Amino acid sequence: MDNFATTETNQENSADTKAPEATRKVFIKTYGCQMNVYDSDRMNDALTTDGYAPTQNMEEADLVILNTCHIREKAAEKVYSELGRIRKLKEDKAKDGKQMMVSVAGCVAQAEGAEISRRAPVVDLVVGPQSYHRLPELLNRASNGSKVVETEFDIQEKFKHLATPSKEAVRKRGVTAFVTVQEGCDKFCTFCVVPYTRGAEVSRSVEQIVSETKRLAAAGVREVTLLGQNVNGWHGAGSDGREWGLGELLFELAKIDGIDRLRYTTSHPRDMDDALIAAHRDLDILMPYLHLPVQSGADSVLKAMNRKHTRDDYFRLLDRIREARPDIALSGDFIVGFPGETDQDFADTMDLIERVKYGSAFSFKFSPRPGTPGALMEDQVEEAVKSERLAALQGLLSQQQKDFNASLVGKTIDVLFEKQGRQEGQMAGRSPWLQPVHVAAPAQLFGEIASVKVVAAGANSLEGELV
Ligand code: SAH
Ligand code: SF4
Ligand code: F3S
Repeated sequence: MDNFATTETNQENSADTKAPEATRKVFIKTYGCQMNVYDSDRMNDALTTDGYAPTQNMEEADLVILNTCHIREKAAEKVYSELGRIRKLKEDKAKDGKQMMVSVAGCVAQAEGAEISRRAPVVDLVVGPQSYHRLPELLNRASNGSKVVETEFDIQEKFKHLATPSKEAVRKRGVTAFVTVQEGCDKFCTFCVVPYTRGAEVSRSVEQIVSETKRLAAAGVREVTLLGQNVNGWHGAGSDGREWGLGELLFELAKIDGIDRLRYTTSHPRDMDDALIAAHRDLDILMPYLHLPVQSGADSVLKAMNRKHTRDDYFRLLDRIREARPDIALSGDFIVGFPGETDQDFADTMDLIERVKYGSAFSFKFSPRPGTPGALMEDQVEEAVKSERLAALQGLLSQQQKDFNASLVGKTIDVLFEKQGRQEGQMAGRSPWLQPVHVAAPAQLFGEIASVKVVAAGANSLEGELV
């Protein structure tokens, strides 16, 4: 799962049966994390009920939405240059007497607000992540030419008003789905914009999560990934009257008929509690793959990052998790070149990676984000040093990923088939550890879990045979 892929999401969903006939088309371009991917689907749902059908072709769109990410430097600049291209398209369309509305959504919208429509007058609507349920109304307000900027924080309202997609729309999106259980973050790691762009941590209720998951299961979804910026910080009133954490929630969701795989992302080491570790021990359908970012292996850097745990805490936590679920594969995020990071600190990170052995990981050069404490710290690390460290770190991580993939050759594993493979007669699915698996298999296996013997492993995927 690439956290930061640019995805043009599921534009082919059919209109909801209850929806008015689609007369207009919307093109959504999605940047950033899974949360944005999920939100783009929700925007499509909200717009479907307003007579829009999704399209993959920006040129034929009556409405273009950029669902943006603000985690990297220059993210905003990229949005402005994309808006430059869109302006030309809008002008060309206007010459043909056609109207095109342009909206910027997501984390750049939240961070920049009205500045966006000042700098890029092509933009009709700036909308933050917490107001997507109001898209139809906001577009209506913007349609008479007035610029609308909506970046209020009220996440419970958004959760309450998410539009329900039709069964057909869900099925077209595939047999795996995301369910947002939590948004925002109170951790304030000193490098990160998320607490500012997504606001304070808010959990969705058990009732909302269970009913959305049941609906997905009824539409044919087999695998659900619970989403949150700080997903294991989720908590809520349980059906037994006690306060639940993510562990208890997973036990509840495991009871739903039709759901055969559960995952969650992204977790913070501080919030891995006993119940969650017990869920890894006791729930077969909770997949043995855990994305648990540590960012650095040096205590001084962890402290400066405000991660609120030490490298030793992380090792001890992994011991407990691996004891509960010995076949678990670890994934993580790493930042190199955080202000003040010395050669020794970096060596400590490499050492941590050597010890943990990751199945996969994401790694980044520190990028100073305006408004975060990290951007103002002294001892910023030189670009050349960052590049060198990143190359070394990625070399090690990709070797570990190859080793992990290779260790599965000869083993028989469960594969959930998600789509047609690249070649004739081939299907593609996912292993319990999220690797893509290519298998010669009939198309009827779509949506099924089958036993597959792994015959070859590459850097990023596996090849197997049905057994
Ligand atoms: N909520 C998740 C993910 C946050 S963003 C978590 O806490 O793990 C995803 C990743 O982007 C982070 O884990 C971090 O490794 C990276 N990241 C965030 N801000 C960054 C910055 N300013 N510079 C470089 N990498 C950053
Ligand atoms: Fe950002 Fe840290 Fe919150 Fe993750 S835990 S979203 S890195 S502040
Ligand atoms: Fe990017 Fe916002 Fe996600 S900043 S990583 S899209 S929460």
